[in-house]
Amino acid sequence: MKVLVLGGAGYIGSHMCKFLSQQGHQVVVFDNLSTGHASAVKWGEFIEGDILNITDCEQLFEQQGPFDLVMHFCAKSLVGESVKKPAEYYKNNVLGTVNVLDTMLKTGHKSLVFSSTAAVFGIPNVDLINEEQPRLPINPYGQSKKMVEDILKDYHQAYGLKSVCLRYFNACGADPELEIGERHEPETHLIPNILKSVNNESNLKVFGNDYPTVDGTCVRDYIHINDLAAAHMKAGDYLATHDGAYAFNLGNGNGFSVMDIIKASVVVVGHDIPFTVEDRREGDPAVLVADASYANKELNWQPKYTKIEDIIVTAWQWHQNEKF
Ligand code: UFG
Repeated sequence: MKVLVLGGAGYIGSHMCKFLSQQGHQVVVFDNLSTGHASAVKWGEFIEGDILNITDCEQLFEQQGPFDLVMHFCAKSLVGESVKKPAEYYKNNVLGTVNVLDTMLKTGHKSLVFSSTAAVFGIPNVDLINEEQPRLPINPYGQSKKMVEDILKDYHQAYGLKSVCLRYFNACGADPELEIGERHEPETHLIPNILKSVNNESNLKVFGNDYPTVDGTCVRDYIHINDLAAAHMKAGDYLATHDGAYAFNLGNGNGFSVMDIIKASVVVVGHDIPFTVEDRREGDPAVLVADASYANKELNWQPKYTKIEDIIVTAWQWHQNEKF
């Protein structure tokens, strides 16, 4: 297949490109490098451009296409930032995506795999979140992704555009061969922040220990980046035989508190990890854990990284050898 990876210079997109290329597929990467890294584009041709620029979009599809499948990872994705700068989130994540969809239709492209998020669920009232749960986002980031999910349903109904939305819970880990990994600036995610503190690059802060959880810290579902990449591949295959606008929750189905992750990291790095407890971070739900049985059943997808230490090891090795 020839696959267009929008946002292929970013954390999840770059792992997707490696995965696709290992499976023998041809990859074209499109990215505006606002948060991605040119040095993370190691597989396929790189086209620099912006989904907010309709000319960039049209040139991409007309000159580089046709593509058998489009995977769309371009987004702004920080919950806290989205509360302060909602316009950027609605512009990039919603308007940018509409540009992509309209260009796909104009150029005869009908299959899309879209990056969605657990943030569409807001504050859930169940322990395990399946696809039946109401989507009630509590921040503009989650809201922007929910809007696109709804747009994709309408575009299927009206224009026959087929899509799969994959709602990631906590994407983490790195390529075990260490060619690529996670690097955000600023870094806000828990595991890289723990590992940075081990290297004395920053002090580890635990945001809140008074949540209604077993140890008072937030519980999340951590899923390895290569398991996410595998799910995208299966979602692409699914679209070859299914005509609809689908959505699947992707996680391991196990909840780990912030303290659990720190303890597992201590095992991985081999010594104590000091931290301070700070106030709660704005917009953090207490517990977010996926019920991924629908993806398991429909996509025949199952995560391979089920032990949290195995996931952290890949992030730790990457962190010690960063090649960007
Ligand atoms: N945390 C800390 N210290 C840190 C970083 C994080 O205590 O330095 C805590 C957070 O408060 C949270 C947990 O660790 O309780 C996990 O935080 P992350 O930032 O790693 O991940 P989030 O759960 O906030 O983010 C994920 C996805 C987002 C999605 C969000 C939905 O990465 O895309 O879940 O709430 F929007």
